[in-house]
Amino acid sequence: MQYPVIAIDGPSASGKGTVAARVAAALGWAYLDSGALYRVTALYAREQGAAWDDEAVVAALAAALPVRFVDGRVELDGRDVSSDIRAEEIGMGASQVAALPAVRAALLQRQRDFAVHGGLVADGRDMASVVFPEAALKVFLTASAEVRAQRRALQLGVPLAGEAYERIVADIEKRDEADRNRAVAPLKPAADAHMLDTSDLSIEESVKKVLDWYRQIEN
Ligand code: DC
Repeated sequence: MQYPVIAIDGPSASGKGTVAARVAAALGWAYLDSGALYRVTALYAREQGAAWDDEAVVAALAAALPVRFVDGRVELDGRDVSSDIRAEEIGMGASQVAALPAVRAALLQRQRDFAVHGGLVADGRDMASVVFPEAALKVFLTASAEVRAQRRALQLGVPLAGEAYERIVADIEKRDEADRNRAVAPLKPAADAHMLDTSDLSIEESVKKVLDWYRQIEN
């Protein structure tokens, strides 16, 4: 592989996106949020009236996805959809379309195309196993389901008890289950991944750990 890649995989709301983006910034590398591609695919399918389980149609939409990542924003057909794709419902749609092999195949090269200059930090579910198997460093980042639910609730401004919070916990567990048990590219650590449990770590501590691992490999 021409450019170094750090692959960071893990379950939803584990904080891998924040850690990956900060590692990329610290190294001056590009950043790929691969989950955003599945989320945009789900949003685009819905806008085009396609069912999330219609593999051929969704794969065709994914192959022609008019998506751009601009200054941290996600644009679909020139519209800023950065917050639309974060809706829980679109997350569930992303999980559904991500289970379709033809959709994953349609998005594969597009993800690899991000490794074009300098280096790349890529986060997702199968960065280490499928998309960048030759990554210089592979990290599997986790946190307990409880900690992840709390982080998501804080992000959404939801109190840490009550019905809305319970719904977040249930959604996280449901999505974990779907991502872990699907037939293609299920969520699981690559054999050579470094395990990083961030339940008791701050963002800064997690970022430092990844950078330390990378520096060890480099030297
Ligand atoms: O990381 P996220 O929550 O934004 O991802 C949204 C969905 O996309 C998630 O349910 C799993 C799926 N996904 C995937 O299958 N492979 C990836 N590389 C990234 C995300």
